[in-house]
Amino acid sequence: MFPRARCVRGTRKETVSILRAQSVYKLFGRKTGEAQRKLQAGASAKEVRAIGVMPAVVDVSFEVEQGEIFVVMGLSGSGKSTLIRMLNGLLEPTSGSIELDGTDITKLSGKALLEVRQQKVSMVFQHFALFPHRTVLDNAAYALEIQDVPKEERLTKAREFLKLVGLEGWEERFPSELSGGMQQRVGIARALVAGTDILLMDEAFSALDPLIRREMQELLLELQNDLGKTIVFITHDLNEAMRLGDRIAMLRDGRIMQIGTAEEILMDPANDYVAEFVADVDRSRVLTASSVMEKATSVVEATGGPRAAVKVMREAQTSGAFVVSRDRKLLGAVSADAAAKAVRDGATSLDGLLMTDLEPVSPDTLVADLFTPVAESPLPVVVADESGRMLGVIPRVTLLAALGNGSGTTGENPPIDDEEVLADA
Ligand SMILES: Nc1ncnc2c1ncn2[C@@H]1O[C@H](COP(=O)(O)OP(=O)(O)OP(=O)(O)O)[C@@H](O)[C@H]1O
Ligand SMILES: [Mg+2]
Repeated sequence: MFPRARCVRGTRKETVSILRAQSVYKLFGRKTGEAQRKLQAGASAKEVRAIGVMPAVVDVSFEVEQGEIFVVMGLSGSGKSTLIRMLNGLLEPTSGSIELDGTDITKLSGKALLEVRQQKVSMVFQHFALFPHRTVLDNAAYALEIQDVPKEERLTKAREFLKLVGLEGWEERFPSELSGGMQQRVGIARALVAGTDILLMDEAFSALDPLIRREMQELLLELQNDLGKTIVFITHDLNEAMRLGDRIAMLRDGRIMQIGTAEEILMDPANDYVAEFVADVDRSRVLTASSVMEKATSVVEATGGPRAAVKVMREAQTSGAFVVSRDRKLLGAVSADAAAKAVRDGATSLDGLLMTDLEPVSPDTLVADLFTPVAESPLPVVVADESGRMLGVIPRVTLLAALGNGSGTTGENPPIDDEEVLADA
């Protein structure tokens, strides 16, 4: 499995919004004022089209946090491209504001707008949009060329980023000599060379074959992890949206149906449209250990010794307990039999009794990657953070139930064995 860019969720507490859209409308046609009033009064897209106005984007508001991958997802014609073209100032909204790093670009025009665009945003396009008569290197350096950066400097930068996207050695080739995936690597390098904080990507991988597309998604996640760019990524592919997005905005007929993490959208769809949309999603590739884990109640602190361990297991009616340090770092597990024998022998410490080969998983592990560890472990698999602190456990039955209906319960009486008792008690 590839790394997931989860720098916004969970780990970072303070978030900074770098892009903000507020009540944005884009209506194409003549009677846009009348159409907007109708829409505000609750008219449907169809009713507005009847007066000759195409409501491409309707009352859209959202904020994108620094370092986030924000995916805009919707079917063809839902308004994705219109929206992204307003985000980079190529299209002026009918009404509403768009702030890039605190500057409302809808109030700018001419040179001022051009400057903000050059400094703040770069685009990556579906069909790469490379110059065919320029080398890969010159394509990558383009953004700096139009900013009059000296030749040596811009070529050095371009080489650096081409290397980063895996194109070292291809600098002097021409786009036509490259496969689609490689051409889009140039497209990404070119956007990175510009040095802007925000990347806007409109269906950037949609023209690529499925396997290449997967590779490019992985590349993007890696780059995002390394460089911390803010990315607005547009796609009509739900799986791509869920794989890449820290958050996803679901667009329909120009309106936002829901904004949330993949898990939020899957577990708690805002309406029937969204629910139907996500019905066929492979949950195991979206849900993570953190969303299916349970609290382990059979847990003892090592300092309590065998006596405390026996007590906890007796109360919880389990045949084993997890043993942790004062600060809840996982030390191992102990069986009820071993602890009871230690008490009989007069031992006061759990030293020597611990099973220590537990191999915890991280909270970001995809459920799809949990099957093997869960199947191979005699105990529920432990979920632990980077410092080894125990966050929860995943018993086998929970894993299966989570895939069934997302609620974590099976409805039926689950088969009970030691493993489940250890976790559920
Ligand atoms: N300049 C325009 N004049 C009139 N209608 C337009 C214009 N640009 C876009 N539209 C209409 O606005 C709606 C949204 O178009 P948009 O291109 O934003 O959709 P999209 O979600 O990007 O679709 P796709 O997935 O096909 O790229 C469509 O119905 C489109 O026909
Ligand atoms: Mg489009």
